[in-house]
Amino acid sequence: MAFGFFKKKQEVEKAPEAKASSSSVHYFNLRVREVIQETPDAFSIVFDHPADKKITYKPGQFFTLIPTVDGAKVRRAYSVCTSPYTDPYPAVTVKRVEGGIVSNFLGDHLKAGDTLEVMEPMGHFTIEPEASRKRHIMLFGGGSGITPLMSIAKSILELEKGSQVSLIYANRNEESIIFRKGFEELKQQHGNRFTIIHVLDQPPAGWTGPSGLLTPANLPALIDQLPQWPADAIEYYICGPEGLMICVEQTLQALNIPKTQIHKESFVPGKADKAVEQLSGADAAGAAQAHEVTVILDGEEYKFTVEPDKTILETALSLDIDLPYSCQSGLCTACRGKCISGKVRLVEDEGLSDQEKEEGYVLTCVGHPITDNVVIEIG
Ligand SMILES: Cc1cc2nc3c(=O)[nH]c(=O)nc-3n(C[C@H](O)[C@H](O)[C@H](O)COP(=O)(O)OP(=O)(O)OC[C@H]3O[C@@H](n4cnc5c(N)ncnc54)[C@H](O)[C@@H]3O)c2cc1C
Ligand code: FES
Repeated sequence: MAFGFFKKKQEVEKAPEAKASSSSVHYFNLRVREVIQETPDAFSIVFDHPADKKITYKPGQFFTLIPTVDGAKVRRAYSVCTSPYTDPYPAVTVKRVEGGIVSNFLGDHLKAGDTLEVMEPMGHFTIEPEASRKRHIMLFGGGSGITPLMSIAKSILELEKGSQVSLIYANRNEESIIFRKGFEELKQQHGNRFTIIHVLDQPPAGWTGPSGLLTPANLPALIDQLPQWPADAIEYYICGPEGLMICVEQTLQALNIPKTQIHKESFVPGKADKAVEQLSGADAAGAAQAHEVTVILDGEEYKFTVEPDKTILETALSLDIDLPYSCQSGLCTACRGKCISGKVRLVEDEGLSDQEKEEGYVLTCVGHPITDNVVIEIG
């Protein structure tokens, strides 16, 4: 296929054996069972299962909600706050973002009985509970970042009776603490196996807990207050605003915690300066050209040309190739695939672990081919 094709005229080459269906990604129209106001600006959406099947998900994964706002379908990722092991229905919790399109649309309009299009649960910020394991799951959350942590906490406390769960949860003030009642219930059910420390930036008068912003200077003392376990039996899960994520990561690094024990998820791309990879030589020349890319999606092959100013996902979607995606900003990994040939440049890779990068995983939503013969396997 020649380079420089106009997007609309580009024809996708499909392998002869390709089936009619373009993707095995599942979409559901889920009925909203209940909307629960958690705090003045956060609410949970509880879904009914579809009539013909039960939705399965792992603790900490996210649903992609696809509401129609002003006539256009928009996608946003929302993590489950429920546990597949303790809650009969799946739920997500949304915190309104000032000026945000979807969080406010849902908060203003969604009610019990409505139907919402949803993409099947995805994501790798998860945990596999094993009844025989004994470990300490240490959770660090801020604001809406508590949602996947709540799902993980409930699941581990229920299934791993020999494990400890601890949570350090930072919020602006007392009224912005999400799931207060849920934490009390976990404490009642699991006693000392669940420890929680609330940190408030603007505490009310008489507050006896820690206050102010978490920093690498004050966090170690809070960690010391948690039940002590052998270092190799502790796993760390972090989800919250950028400042909290950086603080916890720096603290754990200073404590020499191996990266393999640290799991993290960001809801928004970071603003902090990052080392931007400077391309040179053949890579720089390759980045300035269009390249043909082959995507293998559940065994079906699609070949198309990606122009230098477009991502692989953008190009595929413009050609009606139904690749999976959610956040479109390199965070959620819904668009993850393995690059088995050629070279792809990622302009953001926050969602991928070092191991995934070493294994050749790429994110099509932020990926640009910089060589010919790029082949990416998805699914
Ligand atoms: C894997 C994943 C899981 C997520 N899980 C949850 C969840 O459980 N609960 C939840 O409430 N959100 C969650 N999010 C964030 C969510 O997908 C949306 O980004 C968020 O609701 C804002 O969407 P919006 O349409 O309202 O705002 P937009 O119109 O998309 O954005 C408006 C502005 O707000 C900024 N912004 C977007 N999100 C945030 C934020 N969280 N805090 C501060 N500024 C922001 C944007 O950069 C933009 O400038 C998750 C995101 C990812 C990638
Ligand atoms: S769609 Fe979320 S990482 Fe690509």
